Amino acid sequence: MVQLSSLAAALAVGLLPNLAVAAGLHEAAVAKGKLYFGTATDNGELSDSPYLKQLGNTADFGQITPSNSMKWESTEPSQNSFSFAGGDAIADLAKTNGQKLRCHALVWHSQLPNWVSSGTWTNETLVAAMKNHVTKVATHYKGRCYAWDVVNEALNEDGTYRDSPFLKHIGEAYLPIAFAAAAAADPTAKLYYNDYNIESPGPKATAAAKIVKLIQSYGVKIDGVGMQAHLIVGSSPSESALSSTLSSYTSLGVEAAYTELDIRLKLPSTDAQLAQQSNDYRAVAAACIKNTDCVGITIWDWTDKYSWIPDVFPGEGAACPWDEKLVKKPAYAGLLAGLGGGSSTTTTTAGTTMTTTTSSAPPTSTGVAQKWEQCGGLHWTGPTVCVSGTTCQKQNDYYSQCL
Ligand code: G3I
Repeated sequence: MVQLSSLAAALAVGLLPNLAVAAGLHEAAVAKGKLYFGTATDNGELSDSPYLKQLGNTADFGQITPSNSMKWESTEPSQNSFSFAGGDAIADLAKTNGQKLRCHALVWHSQLPNWVSSGTWTNETLVAAMKNHVTKVATHYKGRCYAWDVVNEALNEDGTYRDSPFLKHIGEAYLPIAFAAAAAADPTAKLYYNDYNIESPGPKATAAAKIVKLIQSYGVKIDGVGMQAHLIVGSSPSESALSSTLSSYTSLGVEAAYTELDIRLKLPSTDAQLAQQSNDYRAVAAACIKNTDCVGITIWDWTDKYSWIPDVFPGEGAACPWDEKLVKKPAYAGLLAGLGGGSSTTTTTAGTTMTTTTSSAPPTSTGVAQKWEQCGGLHWTGPTVCVSGTTCQKQNDYYSQCL
């Protein structure tokens, strides 16, 4: 009765409630004011039709990043001879799908062609080669990249600069020089410094903030810090550690994003690990949602089928929110919960549309939470009954899950 009279009253004053559901990760992120939720992809994966179909599902992915084909070894394999076919394929796909493109990466010590890594350089010749690379590649993609990772992974774990041909021959000035060249070539792209293990406080995070200040001190444009977030189940930073580090960057007047998120575990995975992973993903998403200058989150491919982890960390894997068979894991529900995904109410009043999204359940058709889905937590308004064979287990004050 109460609900009916509320509805009648709403209609009487011209409010038309229209229940909508944030059906996916990108939709949930956008409902909270973010620009995107996205994923990395790679050219070799695009011939896999089921993979391609989900990659183009813009409810989940409003942004893509090429994980390899815009890197130096791919775009300038020999000096001043450029090859854009691989990068173009991903850029074209983003356009076809209506997805934003993050471009990755202009200056990095790794995946450099031999002519750079083993070349004989002076300060002057390497500055010229680096500026030429940045200028030609950023000009080629001008207007197409939401953001460029201009310099990638310039730091060691202790916060000192990583050894590289650039540091050796140019010194730290290679950073502002690279950013200045990128800004001149593509004035509208957001220019990012991107690194891993800078998601929680420590010497490397402090040094990443110093890089922002260094570039700013040269009067050169830097727009953002990309926290790669290659995390580990169980030792993933807490939401408060993530939040305070995020603010340490955004307080410098730049935006931030999680650019390569994945959370690996020791194989074989157990239910407990997958539950912890879900909560670890939730914490990253929630930290981004809480900071208005965190613009989005990119996962470093969405399925374990194409994750880079097992190749580099033998015995580890299962780091992505979808498994090798392209089936969603508990991590998906964790992300959606962290993004505040669920039902949203769009109210139209005399030409003005207001959307409010409530943090609620990933959609279930039965009112019963399925295995892995959320079943409780502070402010939780979704189902609290778990499907038979599972019980509702508290993960933290904000999140209980059917396991
Ligand atoms: O394309 C060749 C293929 O022809 C060959 O048969 C095959 C045999 O190993 O190798 C293929 O190249 C691999 C390439 O990925 C494409 O799959 C390279 O060996 C492999 O080293 C390369 O790994 C990439 C890695 O960067 C290199 O450092 C990963 O895919 C890519 O996801 C990863 O991405 C990096 C980010 O750029 C920066 N942050 C860390 C992140 C993870 O390492």
